[in-house]
Amino acid sequence: MKIVHAKNYDEMSQKAAAEFISLIAEKPDALLGLATGSSPVGMYQCMIEAYKAGKISFKNIRSFNLDEYYPITPDNDQSYRYFMDTNLFNAVDIDKNNTRVPDGQTKDPDGFGAKYDEAIAAEGGIDLQILGVGPNGHIGFNEPDSELLLGTHLTALKETTIAANARFFASEADVPRHALTMGLGSIFAAKKIVVLLTGNGKKGVYEKLLEGKVSTECPATLLHLHPDCTVFVDDSIL
Ligand code: F6R
Repeated sequence: MKIVHAKNYDEMSQKAAAEFISLIAEKPDALLGLATGSSPVGMYQCMIEAYKAGKISFKNIRSFNLDEYYPITPDNDQSYRYFMDTNLFNAVDIDKNNTRVPDGQTKDPDGFGAKYDEAIAAEGGIDLQILGVGPNGHIGFNEPDSELLLGTHLTALKETTIAANARFFASEADVPRHALTMGLGSIFAAKKIVVLLTGNGKKGVYEKLLEGKVSTECPATLLHLHPDCTVFVDDSIL
């Protein structure tokens, strides 16, 4: 794992976006693994700017998102489908048929999860995965636990995550209690991973990463085991 310091959120966003922009320039039909939340918003903005400047096109780009609340409809403004449309997809020339977000309305979460992982593999695997990290160390919605699941699955959100995400909702009671998330195996299958470590309450996660130990009780530490993982850390942490 490579840890790279950035002087602020903007610099972190630019550095992370540069990874995506060079991949898209080299491989115009790359398969991207995408995340939502506050961490990648600036990075998506930089990618939109690169598109508007004519440096890259998303015409043949394909994507799979990490997670989605459950249950939720795609037109709900708290859904991760809505987030992706408004923070990236609507502003670039991507074909939305090539963008996949877990189905927050599926009646069969187990079957859905298996199919989602199969679809990622069938399309050649994720070239570059972006991750944020929760204050409790979660990646995707793989919450701290004694055991973690490999495949895409339905999970219950921990109180720490509900509290952290309450800032996006009218009240904590409105935060969904469940989500579909890629599992550790789905995430680790990505050829390259870029992590954004930014935001309140995450200094403890940064310190754990520096310890150089791995624990399922802090899922982000498992990224030490990935062969090509870079963590960008901004001044909110340092
Ligand atoms: C979102 C996701 C989550 C977030 C994490 C950090 O798709 O998978 O793991 O990345 O909760 O959220 P922010 O960026 O809002 O601090």
